[in-house]
Amino acid sequence: MLTLSNFRYQIPTVIEFGRGYAKRLNEFVRELGGSKVLIVGDPGVYQAGIVQQLEDPLQEAGIPFVTFTDVGTEATIESVDNGVALAKTEGCDIVVGVGGGSALDTAKSIGLLLTNGGNIRDYIGIDKVPAPAAPVIAVPTTAGTGSEITRFSVLSDKKAEAKLSVGSMYNCPALALCDPDLTLSLPPHITAATGMDALTHALESYVNKATQPISEGLSVQSMKLVAKSLRLAVIQGENTDARSDMLMASTLAAMAFNSTRLGLAHALAIPLGAHFKIPHGVVNAMLLPEVMEFNLIGNTDKFIEIARIFGEKVEQLTDREAAERAVKAVRQLKTDVGITQTLTDYGVEEQHLDLITEEALLSGNVPVNPVKPTQEDLKNICRSLMTTGVKKEVLA
Ligand SMILES: [Fe+2]
Repeated sequence: MLTLSNFRYQIPTVIEFGRGYAKRLNEFVRELGGSKVLIVGDPGVYQAGIVQQLEDPLQEAGIPFVTFTDVGTEATIESVDNGVALAKTEGCDIVVGVGGGSALDTAKSIGLLLTNGGNIRDYIGIDKVPAPAAPVIAVPTTAGTGSEITRFSVLSDKKAEAKLSVGSMYNCPALALCDPDLTLSLPPHITAATGMDALTHALESYVNKATQPISEGLSVQSMKLVAKSLRLAVIQGENTDARSDMLMASTLAAMAFNSTRLGLAHALAIPLGAHFKIPHGVVNAMLLPEVMEFNLIGNTDKFIEIARIFGEKVEQLTDREAAERAVKAVRQLKTDVGITQTLTDYGVEEQHLDLITEEALLSGNVPVNPVKPTQEDLKNICRSLMTTGVKKEVLA
């Protein structure tokens, strides 16, 4: 067992969780002392009418706001700069981010720059932010990234074709407004990909070297909810219980990895996503079973527990066989929710693996992984996802 006896656990974010809670946004803005709101949402949530659901309670309460929708499928430095400029011109003192990870990460970065000044590049890395951010309310509309809780933001630097990460407790939103009803319209393939991302967060945190009792409990609960409800959320989008379970699973997983970091799936997912435009949840779903297989000998007991959580019968098996059932169960889940792509489908070839694995080895998620990988190990994990050679339909 790799559990540390000494640890620090911190979550500064207040969590408000409940169906219909988006209607209470005005209360939470008042609670945080906001006088004018910058709403940050991507065009998709705007067109789906979800931004309107947040504007309405502000309007009814007479709280002024301005809406910013210049957010793409990735959070970018340029978008953050534009959002900060608008907030300053309009005199906004509180930011509400609504959407998936890109909108929330953009909102968090705007909040940081409103009080700290400068450019978000000044704060890339861990604990580089000197002062608290302006209050940010994060309203997730997907159940996966956990950005509504975490100290991390991932920003795309288009010129450098790189993803940059900010990690600071000052980057945690002041309040996470988790309303499962806002996830009801998510299409099946995004529900699947984001749900597998949440599972990857819970699972990588659970087996890694920095895990500790509080994060372990959060991870176990998160994985139980994923095992129970991800398939249902994908095939019955209107199932409010399954949607609530998945939003809770995502938030719990984020509360776990916020203190522990993750593992090799995320170390590889970031450069693969940056260079080949593979959706974050899809690439994590592809990598997770392969990374689990690689990590089995590093924390066998935990993998046996994961097999049990996913309903596998392990009593008559050797420890190794029991641990392998966890890999089988997660692979089955990935297939059941329709994620069948390979890295080949996104154009990843042998010639790209030097660059991808060099970048992955620089990740802070590598030192906490239960097995220390060589560069060749990471290449082999990628190669195991490049072997079919069959071009499949690529989901967005
Ligand atoms: Fe992730």
